[in-house]
Amino acid sequence: MRYKNRMILAIETSCDDTCAAVLDEEGRRALSNVIHTQTEHERYGGVVPEVASRAHLERLDGVVEKALADAGTDLDEVSRVAVTVRPGLIGALLVGLSAAKGLAFARKLPLVPVNHLEGHVAAAYLTDPTLEPPFVALIASGGHTALYSVRAEAGSGMDLLGQTLDDAAGEALDKGARMLGLGFPGGPAISKAAWGGERTRYDFPVALKEKNNLDFSFSGLKTSLLYKLKALDGERVREELPHLAASYEAAVVEALSRKLLRAAELHEAPALVVVGGVAANVSLRRVLAEKCERRGIRLVVPPPELCMDNAAMIGAAAASTPAIPYPDYLSFNARSV
Ligand code: KG4
Ligand code: ZN
Repeated sequence: MRYKNRMILAIETSCDDTCAAVLDEEGRRALSNVIHTQTEHERYGGVVPEVASRAHLERLDGVVEKALADAGTDLDEVSRVAVTVRPGLIGALLVGLSAAKGLAFARKLPLVPVNHLEGHVAAAYLTDPTLEPPFVALIASGGHTALYSVRAEAGSGMDLLGQTLDDAAGEALDKGARMLGLGFPGGPAISKAAWGGERTRYDFPVALKEKNNLDFSFSGLKTSLLYKLKALDGERVREELPHLAASYEAAVVEALSRKLLRAAELHEAPALVVVGGVAANVSLRRVLAEKCERRGIRLVVPPPELCMDNAAMIGAAAASTPAIPYPDYLSFNARSV
């Protein structure tokens, strides 16, 4: 068999998803991608770090077993174990790293320590295996909103071009949804509520519009929504909900697409990559597809299961991350930042 003894086993436990995946040797094809989203946090209204660590501990063995089974393989065929080591919740990271060390040590395999953000970007290679740097990448999730330049030279990593000065884009959508009385996660809830709404009915601010600024800010947007809601009484808010949701979503989409296109221009990038939970947004995808087509820029947006936290993306990043040989990784530590 082509992949015999050469597969990558990847593990991701940096936040509240317990994930494992099996990839081919090059890390360009996922043979399995198991994501267990922890539901234990729902009653607390947010991720509780200690609860996340315990849930990872309880679930990870089963998730790894399923990833191997789904790929039709077993540990005998694995040649490297890749694992997220930063950034993330430290306790959650340590559960994944300890498991990865144990699996690798028992089989005398090398261990590949992967940066979670490089993992998010590497999801693009699974979506379009012909993609090569240079390109500009936007990571937009509940915890991150940042632009990176991925340079052509092999192993040169990613340069941070700009990032949010306050809330992440997903956080802005989550908080906006809460203010509008919609559910969690806010991104999909706002999109649903925006059905039939006019995107230009309400004027929401887009921050930091200066020409060379590649940072983001979403705090003014939230405040603006608060004032608009105060000015409308309850009945009117219900009537105006589709327009409020559509206009609010449009402002987030405008902020993200404007900066991404500007980064492409400033860095003469032939391709753009968009990853993270917010990349699932249909309106963002449509706006970017139109803008990129007009400018002749290649656009790669992975499907939602590769945009959210997952281990396949960690295996994809392992392809360009130096491995630590057996048994040198035993003293290697995870980092929260
Ligand atoms: O990357 P992700 O799954 O996880 C973390 O950040 O931990 O991103 C989650 C974020 C949430 O803020 C959620 O509201 C947002 O991604 N999101 C969306 C959509 N689906 C999820 N935002 C806009 N449109 C969506 N369809
Ligand atoms: Zn993530």
